[in-house]
Amino acid sequence: MENDIKEVLLTPEQITAIAKDIGTQISKDYKGKNLVLLCLLKGSICFMAELMKYITIPCVIDFMAVSSYGSGTESSGRVNIVKDMSTPAENMDILIVEDIIDSGNTLSFMLQYFKAKNCASVEIATLLNKPSRRKKEVPVKYSGQEIDDLFVVGFGLDYAEYYRNLPYIGVLKESVYSDTEE
Ligand code: PRP
Ligand code: MN
Ligand code: MG
Repeated sequence: MENDIKEVLLTPEQITAIAKDIGTQISKDYKGKNLVLLCLLKGSICFMAELMKYITIPCVIDFMAVSSYGSGTESSGRVNIVKDMSTPAENMDILIVEDIIDSGNTLSFMLQYFKAKNCASVEIATLLNKPSRRKKEVPVKYSGQEIDDLFVVGFGLDYAEYYRNLPYIGVLKESVYSDTEE
């Protein structure tokens, strides 16, 4: 598994530093609000777990599973809800926690989805951001690290469902996926 990684982009320590920064800011911005940390499964599982440790105000957590990538490295553009929230979103300040924003398809779908729910607010926190790949603009309130157009895995991010358990963000070697791409 480690052999498939070309380069480490963010070490566990760097990820923790980002989570601390964003967590501290969220704790200030959401004081007195009805904060819901909404983890978008599966990719955000690690960032969610790290970020929430540094949020020092009352909040609830919830999970949604949405998926747009098949087994390839390109978004299909179609977003499916695999699992919905288990707590009501009405009147809540929803903060969507994402691992990465690429085309923006997933989050523009999510923002659309919440439009009909009468939330007090809906914002986005992401660990990684690839603005060069954006197809749909989404407003990002908290962004950890901007990255170039590289296929990254680890710390929750997958290629064909694998590599999520790496404790860092790494660039996948092209040879791992080049024979399966058209
Ligand atoms: C990945 C990633 C983001 C999304 C970003 O999820 O975790 O949620 O793609 O890409 P986009 O901006 O082009 O929509 P994926 O659909 O692979 O599901 P997963 O989280 O279960 O891996
Ligand atoms: Mn995802
Ligand atoms: Mg994925």
